[in-house]
Amino acid sequence: MLSVKIRPMQKSDLDGVISIEEKAYGPHHWSKDSFMSELSNELAKYFSVLNDKDELIAYCGCWQILEEAHITNIAVTPEYRRNHIGEALLTTIIDECYRNMAKYITLEVRVGNKPAIALYEKYGFKSLGTRKGYYQDNNEDALIMWTENIFYDKFKSVYDRNVLSLKGKINIL
Ligand code: COA
Repeated sequence: MLSVKIRPMQKSDLDGVISIEEKAYGPHHWSKDSFMSELSNELAKYFSVLNDKDELIAYCGCWQILEEAHITNIAVTPEYRRNHIGEALLTTIIDECYRNMAKYITLEVRVGNKPAIALYEKYGFKSLGTRKGYYQDNNEDALIMWTENIFYDKFKSVYDRNVLSLKGKINIL
């Protein structure tokens, strides 16, 4: 079973983050300066995933404003996809929301990004609208996805079941 370490993102991770950004999003990815300012934004939380050689293989981030958390990014380096790392990161964000009493989680995702939409749907996110032409590189629409209140039993039972199943698939140190 794959073992990974998940910890808060550090400035020294940013070269690795940018290299994954380039592979995940092509020329229109976030700059190193954008991540640098995110790391000093007190509303933001970013996490990095390291493999057993301490190489950066994935990361995610979110902002929390009062009761709402907004996922800004989740990306896994291509060679490590479909190993439940995206899911481990999403559960890290949801745990953080439980700890900080955020009730709702939202994000934007490209309408054509089937892997990401499937990941969010697995955890009960629903599409509640679109932003037309939100992505300027190809004018693609964004789906706006939301959880229901994450403290409600319906969300929590799906979450607990997924977390239990995740424990048998990936070892998070
Ligand atoms: N096709 C269909 N479903 C997929 C999928 C794919 N290619 N990739 C992930 N999923 C869904 C499945 O429901 C999967 O659960 P299952 O294994 O029980 O079927 C669930 O997501 C968890 O998959 P996981 O292995 O954790 O995904 P991942 O580690 O490969 O990460 C992304 C998923 C989206 C983060 C990854 O594809 C990625 O980095 N994409 C590029 C960056 C990006 O688009 N980020 C999202 C921005 S909103």
